[in-house]
Amino acid sequence: MFAQLVKPLLKDSLEPSQQALLDEIEPLIETIHNESIQGDIVFYQPTLPHALILSAAILQAHGDHHRRIALWQPQFTISTCLTLFQKYQLELSRLVIYQAPAVDDTPIAFLHLSAVPKHLATITDALSPGGYIVSTPPEAHPQLSQITRLQQTEGHIWRVPYDPLQAKVAQYRAEYRPRLQQSLRTWARYHQRELIFRDVHWMGQPTLKNVMDCWIYQEVIYEVQPEVIVEIGSFSGGSTLFFAHMLDLLGAGKVVSVDINRHAYNVSHDRIIEVTGDSTTQEVMQQVRQHCAGKRTLVIHDGDHRHHTVLTDLNHYAPLVTPGSYLIVEDGIVDIYPYEETGAALEPDFQDKGPLWAVATFMAENPQFTYDRTRERYWLTYNPFSFLKRLP
Ligand SMILES: C[S@@+](CC[C@H](N)C(=O)[O-])C[C@H]1O[C@@H](n2cnc3c(N)ncnc32)[C@H](O)[C@@H]1O
Repeated sequence: MFAQLVKPLLKDSLEPSQQALLDEIEPLIETIHNESIQGDIVFYQPTLPHALILSAAILQAHGDHHRRIALWQPQFTISTCLTLFQKYQLELSRLVIYQAPAVDDTPIAFLHLSAVPKHLATITDALSPGGYIVSTPPEAHPQLSQITRLQQTEGHIWRVPYDPLQAKVAQYRAEYRPRLQQSLRTWARYHQRELIFRDVHWMGQPTLKNVMDCWIYQEVIYEVQPEVIVEIGSFSGGSTLFFAHMLDLLGAGKVVSVDINRHAYNVSHDRIIEVTGDSTTQEVMQQVRQHCAGKRTLVIHDGDHRHHTVLTDLNHYAPLVTPGSYLIVEDGIVDIYPYEETGAALEPDFQDKGPLWAVATFMAENPQFTYDRTRERYWLTYNPFSFLKRLP
């Protein structure tokens, strides 16, 4: 096996005590691999690179390509280590320089201490179930012996007891962790490209919404208790049905669904009133006005997102919004994320000026509305600066 070829080559140049260390480390790394113990192989202040090289060779021989080998405060130069990695054709990508372990973030399967680090007890918290510590400086031993989650297996080797169930949980954590390390931008791109046009549904109906915004809608609807929700742009009707169901829960109200095109529209509900036509036309506006007359009204714009149309719609429909209620303008996010990032939905011509431009223009002229930024508190909203509250 590859590691067995590497080991004699490594050992050749070592003192007997250093060779003994390699003999000790080898079965521990094997166990970590065989028992699927999650986490990095970490060397704290390593004094020679051979132990790292051997660990990398063992993992590579097993096809364990993801586990990292970490140098934590290396005493030798990194270039020595890199040279040896290259010499033995080891995967350079697994080699990392370590700052400090953060529990949950970077679990440790194996920790070799060549010196006594500060906060030893905190560091041992980062050890995964089944993980090992080999500590060469004897000064660390009294401290390690007092840490109850560690079992001393030999004079200077400690282990967190192996529990297959805990190991399974650690594996789940390790598999989930990369998601948490993604940026919000990556999530937005994933949501826009992979989910919104095929995998966001309300009661089986496709819904083109950021799901976190839907929760906010629920809160706004509950607080405002609208008698009419005007939705400009319904598409398949998933969001329209969602609003109707929210009103069902409140026991009153209608949804006026305005759309120029009913080809995709596929819902029906007693609370939904369909107004079909171009939202910018007098005819459509007149019909909507009639449905809202004297009613507590909430307006949601999710129609044509081109800036001039949005502005036209805001100017025409804002007067319907009753004091204390909202004018919500969807998809200002298209002004923020470049087209290439979010994919097909966001047309290139929205890039510089989309709903956000319309909102800014509208707000400059309508002091009776205020930005309610508390509605953006889940951080990622498709409607930044676009929950516009009409002052009471
Ligand atoms: C983004 S989709 C609406 C998505 C829907 N609100 C949801 O969350 O699932 C935009 C809709 O606006 C409609 N639309 C575009 N321009 C319009 C206009 N001038 N008047 C009325 N509807 C329009 C389109 O036909 C389309 O169905």
